[in-house]
Amino acid sequence: MKLIVGNWKLNPPTLNEAVALASGVAYGLKPEHFEKVVLLPPFVFLEELVKRFKHFQWGAQNVFWEKTGGYTGEISLAMLKDIGVNWVLAGHSERRRYFGESDADVNKKIKAALGADFNVIAAVGELQQGDHADEVLASFKKTAEGLDSFSLDRLIVAYEPVWAISTTPGAKPDSPARSNQIIGELKHAAFKMFGESSKKIRFLYGGSISASNAPRFLSEPYIDGALVGGASLKADEFTAIVSRS
Ligand code: 13P
Repeated sequence: MKLIVGNWKLNPPTLNEAVALASGVAYGLKPEHFEKVVLLPPFVFLEELVKRFKHFQWGAQNVFWEKTGGYTGEISLAMLKDIGVNWVLAGHSERRRYFGESDADVNKKIKAALGADFNVIAAVGELQQGDHADEVLASFKKTAEGLDSFSLDRLIVAYEPVWAISTTPGAKPDSPARSNQIIGELKHAAFKMFGESSKKIRFLYGGSISASNAPRFLSEPYIDGALVGGASLKADEFTAIVSRS
């Protein structure tokens, strides 16, 4: 079963619109689709959305690794758990780029989240188009260093080439064959780190996924799902991606 994650980023501006978007997605999905969908709205809408749409899997776009203390503006895993959330995204390229998150920070977030029984989507990807597989692999190894191999069934790695993300000027999707190849290399690197347990990690592709190109990415053998940005803000487009996966 493919996993389709919708990252709403800094959208929409109001709770009413968030509820309308979730309603549109719920309306467009068949009952059997819900288990393969995870939605990541902004923090402030999460509690209300979890209460109103219980059949979705909801997650946060970020989290801090510390449990409590003097960390103004941060959100803890316990706070998320308290409102019924057990999915979290860590290390999105926009967090790395605009908020200075490093591989070491992302590693701490993943360890804390897996340790708290969360499902974690960890993002990696190169900045520039070209032959940068080494950069992606090096980032993945630092990001995944020292993880408990018993928790890898709750780890999802999203390969998102930054140049392919729709909000990057001049963005265009990667080719399904190339992203499949990079994900194959990531799976190989994971095997070297964790052995057989690495086979429990799922790997997604993200970057300008649309209803029309999704089937080509999702039919590639190493790609276990998609991390969708812009297209997750349009209920029809997002549900078409899910239906075609
Ligand atoms: P787009 O699908 O808009 O390119 O965004 C991808 C992304 O960053 C998802 O996390």
